[in-house]
Parts: sequence; structure tokens; C-alpha cells
Amino acid sequence: MMGAEKGSTFFIHTFGCQMNQADSGIITALFQAEGYVQAEKELDAGIVLLNTCAVRENAVDRVEHFLQRLQGRKKREKGLIVGVAGCIPQYKREEMFSLYPAIDFLAGPDTYRTIPLLVEQVRRGGKLASLELNSKETYEGVEPVRDGVTSAFVPVMRGCNNRCAYCVVPFTRGRERSQPFSSVMLEVQKLVASGYREITLLGQNVNSYWDVEHGYDFSALLDAVSREAPKARIRFTTSHPKDISESLVRAIASRPNICNALHLPVQSGSSRMLGRMHRGHTIEEYMEKIALIRSIIPDVTLSTDIIAGFCGEQEEDHQASLALLSNVRFDSAYMFFYSTRPGTLAAETLEDDVPEAVKKRRLQEIIDLQNQISSSLFHEAIGTVVEVLAESESRRSTERLMGRTAGNRTVVFDREHHQPGDLLHVRITGATSATLTGQSVPQVP
Ligand code: SAH
Ligand code: SF4
Ligand code: F3S
Repeated sequence: MMGAEKGSTFFIHTFGCQMNQADSGIITALFQAEGYVQAEKELDAGIVLLNTCAVRENAVDRVEHFLQRLQGRKKREKGLIVGVAGCIPQYKREEMFSLYPAIDFLAGPDTYRTIPLLVEQVRRGGKLASLELNSKETYEGVEPVRDGVTSAFVPVMRGCNNRCAYCVVPFTRGRERSQPFSSVMLEVQKLVASGYREITLLGQNVNSYWDVEHGYDFSALLDAVSREAPKARIRFTTSHPKDISESLVRAIASRPNICNALHLPVQSGSSRMLGRMHRGHTIEEYMEKIALIRSIIPDVTLSTDIIAGFCGEQEEDHQASLALLSNVRFDSAYMFFYSTRPGTLAAETLEDDVPEAVKKRRLQEIIDLQNQISSSLFHEAIGTVVEVLAESESRRSTERLMGRTAGNRTVVFDREHHQPGDLLHVRITGATSATLTGQSVPQVP
């Protein structure tokens, strides 16, 4: 960024899911196309953008802290421009301006293309919002700027047509739309040419992908991507359990480079709660899908999302969630307590009647149980040799590298001569509930 004027430099703070991370790469590309330069740290930037998540209240609180701090920076620094993009402005809209005086402009998930223009207009004075949802916007033709050279996210569909009672995503992301097949394949070809070793296809409901041009569904897309990038690991997230088809499971099983890992959010172990949540399936149907997946991919690793303390949850529903975790033995789980979101079906029609202390106690029981399960599954791996894609230096030491197994387990190992981006074999010698440790070995025995 040598020589760039501060007013033409930007910095993005990214919150939320992998889709938001991918979107920040799209916004970076859009800024750069207009001559803006990415700053190395926030303090060097004349434009600060927060790309935000609204899924739970604590995600919104975090952004609030940033905005308070930026308000202080603005007092000292004339001309600093602050924008908020992504799911919070789409959800809270113009009300944001009165809540947080630091904000100069707002952009939603379908209006990133307007951001450079918003910056220009803000410079001329005023506060601006660009918050239309546009169910045609897929950002086709924008090549995202990516952080590393090993792993790449590729958004293939956006939006969500489901109406889970607790969830803001359908409000913030709008209707489902898919990236055309030809455009996904073009992006994958570029990633292969640049040497990427891992490609993750993203969508709020990735398995609802539908290419109108050829009539390809997600299994067809996944199969084609895995053939186009035969040396890369292929992953995808997030899948909705009700849309898991046998053809998708078979596609995963039949292609060696599609990772045998599935993230399948369940939310609750009680069919009564799943009904109230509008998930569109019972727990028996969920278990049937798990049985199908395990019969076709015996070594699959499964992960899930679970919510404690949704409206009307009784102790027996909570026990059913614990029983589900014990039955399925997920490799890992994202675990939350229910956070009511104004405007959602649950907030409008159900009572948020589980006391906060009970929600937190149930969540803690879920976390403790899942940690035990993860820990015992991880300990079973001690002594085995696993294939690891090295991603980066470990947080604690430059002498150690961090990578992942095909099943998405984190492995920390002695660096020796290896570099991030290497695919290697590691003999596992230790485990916690979150990490495996080991030493690289020359070859699978
Ligand atoms: N399309 C993805 C989306 C996710 S949001 C999916 O269906 O998996 C990620 C997770 O956040 C959800 O799976 C759910 O477990 C959790 N979540 C969503 N809304 C929530 C709320 N109001 N309170 C607590 N957790 C919530
Ligand atoms: Fe939210 Fe449900 Fe859509 Fe997932 S499927 S984004 S939980 S509404
Ligand atoms: Fe959050 Fe929006 Fe992703 S609400 S989880 S950033 S889709």
C-alpha cells in the first residue's frame, strides 16, 4: 500500500459464517476494481467496513463494541468512513443510523456492488443505505480476493427458502438463488490453476443448489467439481437434513477427493421441538438419514448444530437432545442457547419461556457431553496414521503446523520440512476433545 492516500484505503472486519468470509473477499475485489487499496491493519485505513452477522444477539453485541470504538476514532480522525455490511443492516435497516452514530453507510448481502459508490456519495456528505434484496444477485463475474493459497470458499447458492421459526437468515439473505453451473466450473478451473488444495462449496442450504440452465442438482455439481479438481479436497456446507438425498450420499462415497464429512444441523433431539422450530422433519427421519449416510459411507464424520432452550423446551426435550448426541456420537458440534430474534416466527408467535439460567445450564450439559464424546472419538485415533492438509503455523509455535484430516479434525504436528499447503501423513500420538497431535511419517504403512 505504498503511496496510497489514506482516503483510498480500506479494511474489513468479518464476523459470522463462512459465507460472510467469502463475501468479504467479494467486497475486497469490488473495492480493488475501483482503485481502492486494502490496508494491512484497521488503523491504516480511511474506510472501515464491518461485515456482520445477526444470527444471535451476542453476534450483534460484538459489532456494537466495534462501533463504539470506531465512534471514538472518528472524533479524532476527520474523514474516516465507517460502513456496516451484511446481515445486521439487512435485519435492522435504517434504525442502525440512530442507534450507532459512527455509521456512514449500510449495505446488505445483495448490494455489495454499490459499496464503492456509497463511499463516494458519503464523501460528498450524508448517510446512505442500500438495502434492497435481489434474488438474482449471485455476484457472478466477481472473482473474490482470497486470504491464503491453500483453501478456497466458493459460494454456489445464496439465500434460504426455509422458515425455521428461530432464524433471521431468510430475512437477511432473501430467497434462494444458485450460481450458474458454468460459472462455478470456471471458478474451480481458476482455483486448480492457482494450485488450491481444498475447495469448499458454500450455501445457506447448499444441497438445494439448482442450475436452471442444465437442470443440475447439488449432487451433479459436487461430482463435476470433484472431477474438475481431482487433486483438491472438496467440501461443502451447510446441508439441511430434509434435503439430503441418496444420490448426494452416493456422490460423496464414489469420488475419492470429496471429503467423507457431513455437517448436518439437527437443532434438537425432540420431534416436538423440531415441529415447533419448523424444521420439516422428525427425529426419526433424521436418524434414518444418518443410518443411510453411515451405510453408504462407513467412515463418515458427522457434525451438527444444536440449540438449547428453544421456546417451550421441557426437561424431557432437553434429555432427548442429550440422548441424540449419545446415540449419534457426532465428531463435533456447534452448540448455542436460544436467542430470540425480533421479527421471526418464534418471536412473533411463541413465548421465550425457558429462563436464561435454565438455557445456560442445559447448554452446559450439552457441551460437557459433546466434549466427552469428541474426546473419546479423538482418543480412538491415537496410533493411527491420517492424511493431513497443512494449513498454517500452529497458534503456539512456528515449529509446529496446524492442518485438518479429511474428516475435518484439527491436527497439530512438528513442522520438520513441511509447509502450509502440503498434503502429508501424520501418526497420531495425542488427543484432546478438539485437537489431535502427532508426527509426520513418510508414507501410509
Ligand atoms: N443454513 C444454516 C444456517 C445457519 S445459522 C443451517 O441451516 O445450518 C447457524 C446455526 O445457528 C443454526 O444451525 C442454529 O443452530 C443456530 N441459530 C440460528 N438462529 C438461532 C437463534 N435464534 N438462537 C440460537 N441459535 C441459532
Ligand atoms: Fe436458518 Fe433454517 Fe434457513 Fe438454516 S435452514 S438458514 S436455520 S431458516
Ligand atoms: Fe450470520 Fe448472516 Fe451468516 S446472520 S450466520 S452472517 S448468513
